[in-house]
Amino acid sequence: MVLEAIRFKGETASGQNVTPASLEILDQLLLPHQTTFIPITTCQGAHSAIKKMQVRGAPAIAIVAALALATELSNEKQAGSLLKTARKQQDEIGRRLDYLKTSRPTAVNLSDAIGKLKKVVETAASEPDASPTTVVAAYLQAAEKMLEDDVADNKAIGEHGAQWIKKHTTAGVRRTSNPEQPLQVLTHCNTGSLATAGYGTALGVIRSLRSNGMLTHAYCSETRPYNQGSRLTAYELVHDEIPATLVTDSMAASLLQREGQDVAAIVVGADRVAANGDTANKIGTYSLAVLARHHGVKFLVAAPRTTIDLATPSGKEIVIEERAADEVTRIKGPRIDTDGKVLVEHFPATINIAATGIDVWNPAFDVTPASLIDGIVTECGVVEKVDGRFDFEHIFRK
Ligand code: MRU
Repeated sequence: MVLEAIRFKGETASGQNVTPASLEILDQLLLPHQTTFIPITTCQGAHSAIKKMQVRGAPAIAIVAALALATELSNEKQAGSLLKTARKQQDEIGRRLDYLKTSRPTAVNLSDAIGKLKKVVETAASEPDASPTTVVAAYLQAAEKMLEDDVADNKAIGEHGAQWIKKHTTAGVRRTSNPEQPLQVLTHCNTGSLATAGYGTALGVIRSLRSNGMLTHAYCSETRPYNQGSRLTAYELVHDEIPATLVTDSMAASLLQREGQDVAAIVVGADRVAANGDTANKIGTYSLAVLARHHGVKFLVAAPRTTIDLATPSGKEIVIEERAADEVTRIKGPRIDTDGKVLVEHFPATINIAATGIDVWNPAFDVTPASLIDGIVTECGVVEKVDGRFDFEHIFRK
């Protein structure tokens, strides 16, 4: 069974009857303990789900926002409540997209998607025979295509990353000449099917390495405080039967010290890659990049071009989201009995794990300087530094 976090059905017609588009998302706050899909029918619903992190991960946030508006517009069309003119409909779509953009600030994929969708509706509204219906139809088609394109892009990212690791890492070269040799990868946060439309970026690289027969073992870090690693990446690795081990974030140095060059690379995702290659990603990414450099392990960022923000010159200009203190001071999960059996009736239980009254700093992301990154794996290939600098222009010409 393929893991999916976003279920979208486009409009379907049967005779004169049209069933409007519908959207459901897997509630990631309940994973891995409960699999519950929640319907999203409005932009308000999507805004709240993104802010609460029922859906998270840079590409998934953008796609859910785009599809939520598609669903809302499709329902309005069936109810006969679209606006009077194409221009008014265009303005209203723009207003709702701007509202969706305020849900979370760091990942650029959302504003990239919004910019592209605004252009689509502007073009549709400029057609000589434009009407509110044609503007909405153009929006629906473009939003749905974002979902399809993301999976294809992730598969290409996976394959480019796997080939790079095979050729450019000690473990990759050793295993290519001797299939008995180990090849391990460490990843951080969750970048898989739950964070994207499917397959994943950094986790896509791990999936491709595994299906190419290259990967012998994956490590995922817990990713405190929200535990995307232990809850979500571990869930995906178990689901795909990839041999894998969970470590807490503070164990990464010891892991690299113990495994040496058997760890081919640390591969992470990104929320925003600035024009100079500085990369904002889940808090803890920067410390892993420092460790990788110290241990001579390659450090790769896997991200689609929609995550590369040429308008932001460097990491200094990236806004880092700060989240509530209780994500650090409390944990949530099901209670278990003395035999380890999950007591579903006690789900989710909340446990306090910090001294009451302590001040908390909870940045959701950090910025890894480009100098610590060996390559940025995109759907168009791996971008490496030339004369110490990343240059992304050629991948945007493709
Ligand atoms: O706060 P989150 O869970 O949305 O953060 C997610 C990450 O940092 C991911 O690594 C990034 O969005 C890439 S997902 C393909």
